[in-house]
Amino acid sequence: MHNSTPLFLSLFHTLLSLHLTSAIPSSSLLQYVHNFTTTNSTYRSNLGELFSFLDKETAAKGFSENSTVGVAENQISGLALCRGDINASDCAACLDQSFRYITNGSSFPKEAAIWYHFCLLQYSNDSSLIASTDNFPRFLMWNITNQTFSGWDKSKEFTIFSINNTLHKLLTNVADQTAFHSAKWFGTGVTKNSATLEIGRDNVTVSVPVIYSLSQCTPNFPNDTCRDCLQDLIIDLLGSYDGRRGGRIVGIKCNLRYETYPFYYGNPDILIDSVPITDIGGNKGGINRLLAIIISVTVVLLILSCFTIILWIRKTRSTETDIFQEENAIPTS
Ligand SMILES: *[C@@H]1O[C@H](CO)[C@@H](O)[C@H](O)[C@H]1NC(C)=O
Ligand SMILES: *[C@@H]1O[C@H](CO)[C@@H](O)[C@H](O)[C@H]1NC(C)=O
Ligand SMILES: *[C@@H]1O[C@H](CO)[C@@H](O)[C@H](O)[C@H]1NC(C)=O
Ligand SMILES: *[C@@H]1O[C@H](CO)[C@@H](O)[C@H](O)[C@H]1NC(C)=O
Ligand SMILES: *[C@@H]1O[C@H](CO)[C@@H](O)[C@H](O)[C@H]1NC(C)=O
Ligand SMILES: *[C@@H]1O[C@H](CO)[C@@H](O)[C@H](O)[C@H]1NC(C)=O
Ligand SMILES: *[C@@H]1O[C@H](CO)[C@@H](O)[C@H](O)[C@H]1NC(C)=O
Ligand SMILES: *[C@@H]1O[C@H](CO)[C@@H](O)[C@H](O)[C@H]1NC(C)=O
Ligand SMILES: *[C@@H]1O[C@H](CO)[C@@H](O)[C@H](O)[C@H]1NC(C)=O
Ligand SMILES: *[C@@H]1O[C@H](CO)[C@@H](O)[C@H](O)[C@H]1NC(C)=O
Ligand SMILES: *[C@@H]1O[C@H](CO)[C@@H](O)[C@H](O)[C@H]1NC(C)=O
Repeated sequence: MHNSTPLFLSLFHTLLSLHLTSAIPSSSLLQYVHNFTTTNSTYRSNLGELFSFLDKETAAKGFSENSTVGVAENQISGLALCRGDINASDCAACLDQSFRYITNGSSFPKEAAIWYHFCLLQYSNDSSLIASTDNFPRFLMWNITNQTFSGWDKSKEFTIFSINNTLHKLLTNVADQTAFHSAKWFGTGVTKNSATLEIGRDNVTVSVPVIYSLSQCTPNFPNDTCRDCLQDLIIDLLGSYDGRRGGRIVGIKCNLRYETYPFYYGNPDILIDSVPITDIGGNKGGINRLLAIIISVTVVLLILSCFTIILWIRKTRSTETDIFQEENAIPTS
């Protein structure tokens, strides 16, 4: 399983540049299409059979676990999911669009993953890739406005700290909801209230608006695997969001998104307090305590940084998250 990953990724990177820059289909969010195409009619009819199964099952349940059709070199495996808040007709329409896109030609990719706002379809001749928990390829996309939270100021660590904490709390709670309390591996949440803190001594106003979030895993994951998959995304996202008011990180096995406006249907599963603003408090003692915490954390981080660098180098050698500007903001089926 692990031996096949580099091939999967290097081919993916080739196609990323081919497809994402020039040939994004009208409303496709992202796609990974294996460069190796085939016209083999047996494989093609197996793909059709796999797709009709996934389409029906996903529209009915919201997701479809890994399934396999055919034998030997014509064997094909795949899975599909729709965003958990989408109804059956929007779900089926989204998957149909993916399938039409993939099979719209005399040849078609032997292996592909295609993301729209509402659905994800993936298949391969290698069943271990479909069953794998490896979350690459994956992409970071920021809300196209690039706006940052009001009060975000990189030179003032406690403003970063309070916004970080609210976002972190929201994302981790939604991830818990997704992994441990949802029948669909899908969860949504929102912060209960916006919060503003004026810190007189430094003339700073930190303001955290209401933030909405969702996360989702592919359905063949055990609870802890789903949670770990999302945790990895949360770390990646918080390490690079740089105060932006909206963004998403989309992997082949799990994904999450946050915005300052409601972007999913229905009521959120969970409500979260924007705690850290009140934790900091308006008084000097609070600020001094906070500074003491920041200083001790910094010292520990400095001590740990050599280890971190080694791990980071090892990590980036085998995995890399692609970052680009969100092109197509409006949800479409
Ligand atoms: C497939 O990838 C190879 C190697 O990167 C490239 O030379 C070739 O043009 C690609 N073929 C297609 C059909 O994109
Ligand atoms: C197509 O499938 C047939 C039957 O399995 C196989 O013999 C043949 O080699 C395949 N052709 C291609 C081009 O892959
Ligand atoms: C789905 O994946 C699991 C885990 O690898 C595997 O045991 C099972 O055979 C797969 N099922 C199908 C139908 O491909
Ligand atoms: C599905 O949801 C969309 C968006 O909310 C709505 O426009 C459509 O009427 C719904 N379809 C059905 C069959 O409920
Ligand atoms: C199919 O391909 C044609 C010609 O390249 C294109 O105009 C059409 O939009 C494509 N349809 C889909 C569903 O991708
Ligand atoms: C999948 O297809 C590719 C291209 O034909 C081939 O190189 C690879 O060995 C196949 N993988 C499996 C597991 O059959
Ligand atoms: C948003 O930020 C990204 C990188 O941080 C930058 O490449 C892009 O040009 C910015 N877009 C706008 C509209 O400012
Ligand atoms: C695992 O998740 C499922 C659904 O997502 C849930 O029904 C079950 O209670 C969870 N198990 C544990 C131990 O949290
Ligand atoms: C805060 O504002 C007051 C009045 O505008 C000014 O005198 C003071 O220097 C400012 N303090 C800081 C830390 O910027
Ligand atoms: C904010 O969170 C990111 C990711 O966890 C971290 O790298 C950064 O140091 C945090 N900043 C503060 C001030 O806590
Ligand atoms: C970006 O955020 C603004 C509000 O802050 C919202 O109106 C817009 O739809 C968002 N764009 C995307 C792609 O979510």
